[in-house]
Amino acid sequence: MSPRSYQPGVPRPTDVVLPSRKERFEDRRVDGTQRKLLDEFFDHSTLLTISRLITQGQFDSLDFPVATGKEGGVFRATYADGFRAVKVYRIANTMFRNLPMYAMEELRRETSARNFGGLIFAWTRREHTILGRMADAKVRSPTPYGHLRNVLVMDFIGNAEGGAPRLRDAEIDDPEAVYKDLVEQIGRMVRDAKLVHGDLSPFNTLLFEGKVVLIDVAQAVSVKHPEASKLLSRDLDHYAKFLSRLGVQVTGEEFFHAVGGDRLKGPSSER
Ligand SMILES: Nc1ncnc2c1ncn2[C@@H]1O[C@H](COP(=O)(O)OP(=O)(O)O)[C@@H](O)[C@H]1O
Ligand SMILES: [Mg+2]
Repeated sequence: MSPRSYQPGVPRPTDVVLPSRKERFEDRRVDGTQRKLLDEFFDHSTLLTISRLITQGQFDSLDFPVATGKEGGVFRATYADGFRAVKVYRIANTMFRNLPMYAMEELRRETSARNFGGLIFAWTRREHTILGRMADAKVRSPTPYGHLRNVLVMDFIGNAEGGAPRLRDAEIDDPEAVYKDLVEQIGRMVRDAKLVHGDLSPFNTLLFEGKVVLIDVAQAVSVKHPEASKLLSRDLDHYAKFLSRLGVQVTGEEFFHAVGGDRLKGPSSER
């Protein structure tokens, strides 16, 4: 028996995030790396949060990390006979140092939290809300299913083989079609969801079944934000350079115009 007892019906956190005994026996090396990763990632409170989300029926189990970084990680989870993505923000002092000032100000406006954990939770909630607004506006992006503390649950973009690649790493057969699709999706985000992404790039775009999916939206702001126009044109300038390298003849200005950027307030950039 385990020395630590958990509520009946609530899965023990280690059972949730560690592979089954049989799998562990089959590959001890994987187990070692997995364990290290989980130790780094999941402080006790995060394990409990994951466990509570499972009890709520948000997903059945965590499968493996899709991506991990300084600020957190994204995991594939099994849900019924399909998958969900679980994004975990790390509760450590690294994240808000790199955050743009405008996003920090928005967050402070939206929450009364002043301590670090509280801000992370507010940031997680913010990403959930923004994904919801994008789904309502039919922007292709992961549908959010729930959030608790520093953990967000959303659609998994990918299939049984794994997560969809970032546009940056994807094999692109038809760059023109990708550009058109981007114009459509970013256009909906600006016109219908009335949001500017703020960190749009081929890193924060996945390519799944030939279509783009916009992700990583926590820093998005309203199109009414005084910096909205500048943020959009900055992102699209960079994006246009990436597209030109693929052979799509488009300038940042044309891209900006195509998504309806002209409607936004404020100077578009220091062009
Ligand atoms: N819903 C999702 N489905 C599949 N993979 C995802 C999903 N969300 C994120 N990812 C993967 O995780 C990576 C990091 O996610 P992202 O939201 O960009 O977080 P970060 O803040 O770490 O950049 C992405 O580059 C992508 O590979
Ligand atoms: Mg990202």
